[in-house]
Amino acid sequence: MSEVGIDGVEIRTGKLKLDLAETFAPEKGEDPEKYTKGLGLHASSFPDAYEDIVTMGANAAHRLLERKDLALDDIGRIDVATESAFDRSKPVSTYVAGCLEQVNDGDLHHANKGERKFACVSGTQAVDDAFNWIRAGRNRGRAALVIATDTALYARDDPGEATQGAGAVAMLIDENPDVVAFGEPQGYGSADETDFLKPNQQFPSVDGKRSMQVYLARMREALEDFEEAGGDTHPENFALVPFHTPFPGMVRKAAGLGYRHCIRGTEIEDELAAEIGRQPRPEAYDDEDEYFEAIKEYTDKLTDTERYQEWYERTVAPTLSISREVGNWYTGSVHVARVAGLLEAYETGRDLTGQQLLVGSYGSGAQAEMHAEYIQPGWESEIEQLDITEQLDDRKSLTFAEYESIHDVHNHEETTDVEPLTAPDSEFVFDGWGRMGERKYTFVE
Ligand code: CAA
Repeated sequence: MSEVGIDGVEIRTGKLKLDLAETFAPEKGEDPEKYTKGLGLHASSFPDAYEDIVTMGANAAHRLLERKDLALDDIGRIDVATESAFDRSKPVSTYVAGCLEQVNDGDLHHANKGERKFACVSGTQAVDDAFNWIRAGRNRGRAALVIATDTALYARDDPGEATQGAGAVAMLIDENPDVVAFGEPQGYGSADETDFLKPNQQFPSVDGKRSMQVYLARMREALEDFEEAGGDTHPENFALVPFHTPFPGMVRKAAGLGYRHCIRGTEIEDELAAEIGRQPRPEAYDDEDEYFEAIKEYTDKLTDTERYQEWYERTVAPTLSISREVGNWYTGSVHVARVAGLLEAYETGRDLTGQQLLVGSYGSGAQAEMHAEYIQPGWESEIEQLDITEQLDDRKSLTFAEYESIHDVHNHEETTDVEPLTAPDSEFVFDGWGRMGERKYTFVE
């Protein structure tokens, strides 16, 4: 059976940028280091007035098809994952298809289209659907286009406001992929949780501190389930560990706990024993609280070791470099982490062909998923062609007043008319409303 995985990827950021330390922190009366060091975030991306989840997704997909020299009838499936949909019936994928049909010959009438929902994990679920469709032999030689696109806005003054972001990731899922091939074993951690939800409302209701606990609990379950399914979790067997990144500080916490779990009973635990002792085992404690206290103490010592820090800098830190500059992209966030890690590896000349990634996705409500991926020989040439660094550098910085009006523009309850702050160039733009309340899009040369 041939390998199936990601054959190409493109990222599209919103064109505006809010600097958290310089612009956001002073307005909120907060120490800038709460954002830069505590959360690990420097800036958020926002869409300009003519951008939204459709334009960002369609612009990423358009560049991907052009770059891979694909015609529309090479695509048999378009799935969009989003938490920011503006229609409860018509899926965003139909709008994206309409955009692509405006500028390409042919049509997408025989492509299956849909929209996936399970908070941020739905991007990974859509990738999984594409994998299964191809493995089932129903693709007739065609590839699937998966787009994870979000405008991740919170109500103003919500604690989540600092973690906002907006952007899209388009991925081509195909046989004999150029970037990564998906491994077979998969682990899940899933429970009915009330940590972050949008009950018929645009901005989320969030129990922030609880959402962090739920993230860690479900990720742990997924990791254990992945091991149960035969997945290898030895930390030295992974070149990079991309995780869902609501903000880098969350991944920093998860990495320490995950590393401790994965080194248990390995030569790494043995080698560190002289320096920090062995991991506490539950059977040695009568009292659960005492055990938790002991395990916390061990984890603190572990994350201070040179061995852990070297591992973290090599496998986790590179995956956070884009997220740090753009904030949370919900469904796209773990896919941005994968690209960020590969991009840094490419730029620093690491040879990753044949090596593994351990990918951890998470969606509130809540579900985590864990699987491994194998880096393919074409990864460098794919990553080399990305223009995300230029896009990030070209973003227009917002004043706080501009940020407030752009937030209003994208607030479905407001009818603010604001002049765009940037000029569109060879891209799809939002072009007003149709007679049935549908959104309209045009390609601007
Ligand atoms: N210097 C350095 N660090 C500082 C600091 C300073 N001056 N001031 C504060 N910090 C640290 C704090 O100690 C804290 O770190 P620790 O957790 O390690 O202690 C960190 O900065 C954040 O500070 P607070 O906890 O005081 O921040 P907050 O209460 O304002 O909000 C939050 C933090 C709860 C994450 C909030 O941003 C939020 O609600 N975010 C949205 C929900 C979210 O992202 N949850 C993540 C898991 S759910 C998920 O992953 C799904 C999803 O995408 C939404």
